[in-house]
Amino acid sequence: MSAANRRIAETTIACYDRFARAFWDGTRHHDVSQNYAALLNAIESAPPYSILDLGCGPGRDLIYFRSLGHEAVGLDGSRQFVAMAQAHSGGEVQLFLRLATVFQDRRCLNCHTATDFPRQGDDGHRHIMLVRRGPEDKGAGGLPCGTCHRFSNSQAGVPGADDWHLAPLRMSWEGLTVGEICRSLFDPARGGMTPTALIPHLNTDLVLWAWFPGVDLNGVARRPPPLRHDEFTALAKNWVSMGASCPP
Ligand code: HEC
Ligand code: HEC
Repeated sequence: MSAANRRIAETTIACYDRFARAFWDGTRHHDVSQNYAALLNAIESAPPYSILDLGCGPGRDLIYFRSLGHEAVGLDGSRQFVAMAQAHSGGEVQLFLRLATVFQDRRCLNCHTATDFPRQGDDGHRHIMLVRRGPEDKGAGGLPCGTCHRFSNSQAGVPGADDWHLAPLRMSWEGLTVGEICRSLFDPARGGMTPTALIPHLNTDLVLWAWFPGVDLNGVARRPPPLRHDEFTALAKNWVSMGASCPP
């Protein structure tokens, strides 16, 4: 490399190093889904793919490709970017991506809706009998949730647990990306949890119900979330102890 080129390279990398944090904050939310799709569609072999991300920056795309199960390796000239990419695509964020398979499961989303009504089933259809949220998330029009939902599941197909009601709208997860769900948990205006309060919450009745969901009106067993409850809480503990970082 000529001296002039070397100088240009060094200045450029030094600039990225200095503004690494601002670069991450400014680009992590860019919607590049079309670029992802174009790249993945152009690869002809069978997945999972081995992807080399030259100039990986803080690791946004590495996180995404790894979340799909591909083997993504990043290289970058900026030390700051490499450190960030390692943190983002490594440990904690990967842990939350696994936790999110539960948060985004229908057993949870059917109560954590963004709508004026609960949802049901694995297809998330609107709750039957025009049941509505009501002012306190416990039903409206003289039809509180507790009329039908009792302390435990009924043989006839009505699920039950103590104080059965919808999660408040500010805790709705429907339509959110995994990163958005993650940040909403500790956002004072949304969930307002603290990391230490999260773990005990995962052992409360309504959350636990998802692992003992009973049978539906047709007598068919409802499907529990994709991780066992003890795996889920152990992962959550690890994630919290590592600093509870969120995916982009
Ligand atoms: C009139 C009786 C009745 C009322 C009132 C009622 N539900 Fe239900 N709910 C049911 C029945 C019956 C089912 C089971 C439907 C099925 O399995 O097909 C059900 C299922 C559900 C499910 C589905 C669980 C799943 O993952 O599939 C949720 C969530 C739910 N109700 C929430 C509520 C909430 C919250 C309220 C109050 C706002 C409420 N329900 C009010 C009868 C009622
Ligand atoms: C029957 C309805 C219902 C089901 C099913 C349910 N939740 Fe909730 N969830 C609630 C309610 C109600 C709250 C609000 C609790 C409160 O205000 O103390 C809540 C709050 C939460 C919170 C705190 C949210 C925040 O942003 O701080 C978490 C975390 C949570 N639920 C996890 C889950 C998970 C994980 C599942 C599935 C495994 C689940 N919930 C299933 C009703 C439900």
